[in-house]
Amino acid sequence: MIKIYAPASIGNVGVGFDILGAAIQPINGSFLGDLITIKSSKEFELINKGIFADRLPENTKENIVWKCWSKFCQITKKNIAVSIILEKNMPIGSGLGSSACSVVATLVALNEFCNNPLNKKDLLLLMGQIEGEISGSVHYDNVAPSYLGGLQLILEDKKIISQKIPSFKNWFWIIAWPGIKVSTAQARQILPNTYSKEICIKNSRYLSGFIHASYSQQPILAARLMQDFIAEPYRIKLLPNFLKTKKIIKSIGAISFGISGSGPTVFAVANNITIAKEISYWLKNNYLQNKTGFVHICVLDLHGARKIG
Ligand code: HSE
Repeated sequence: MIKIYAPASIGNVGVGFDILGAAIQPINGSFLGDLITIKSSKEFELINKGIFADRLPENTKENIVWKCWSKFCQITKKNIAVSIILEKNMPIGSGLGSSACSVVATLVALNEFCNNPLNKKDLLLLMGQIEGEISGSVHYDNVAPSYLGGLQLILEDKKIISQKIPSFKNWFWIIAWPGIKVSTAQARQILPNTYSKEICIKNSRYLSGFIHASYSQQPILAARLMQDFIAEPYRIKLLPNFLKTKKIIKSIGAISFGISGSGPTVFAVANNITIAKEISYWLKNNYLQNKTGFVHICVLDLHGARKIG
């Protein structure tokens, strides 16, 4: 029996649309991600458990886990007879890389179960491909951090798909999911097809500056440069009171605030725990739209997908 955990992630991290992603881990030690348990069986079987199991499609063939299994069997030219338990702890359409958690945990578990026929690079390419089929276009900014951990810069180079970037040890990432769903495919459709030269230059300047600040360990510069000119201006209408919330969270002391992936989760960065707790308190009382919503104070999950138990 193999049990794999794949953590949630913040796509884009403000400044790197589709090419920066951060794996996160709540400081209270809880699991914010999906778990896959796999064992041999006479034939394929999928059991859904977990907090959000009731939001999964009824038809097994529409479940991401089935899609991963089917693709993996195709690639390895085997009919892998397994029983899989999916513990769906991530809300779907939350902007926390929920589909990536399922994709990563399933493929890591299957690969492990079959004695690793795919190497890390090929496994990551497959994760990106399946994520693309689900969301409408290939993007690695959730699967790469969930699989490899930490802050990942997606290169999509023929040899290196993703690269771990140095992060800041005293940063706390506060995430708030309001309890409502935003479809990634729809949140991508509302973005323009083309951007002006001015925006392209500005975006390059901020993103390269952020990478420079990360390597030279200048946290305040890095936080100042975490600005989104590509998605945020168009997506704020999908989120409850985004601009007002941003202003208040910054006044509490956040050094950065933005949309996590395609939303509606928002994230704030604080460089001390007192401010992180104040931000968390405010978001709990003001940003959540219903009882399913949640707020977590997190640090980066530097390990990514891993065996549990
Ligand atoms: N980079 C992707 C997007 C992440 O913003 O559409 C989706 O979670």
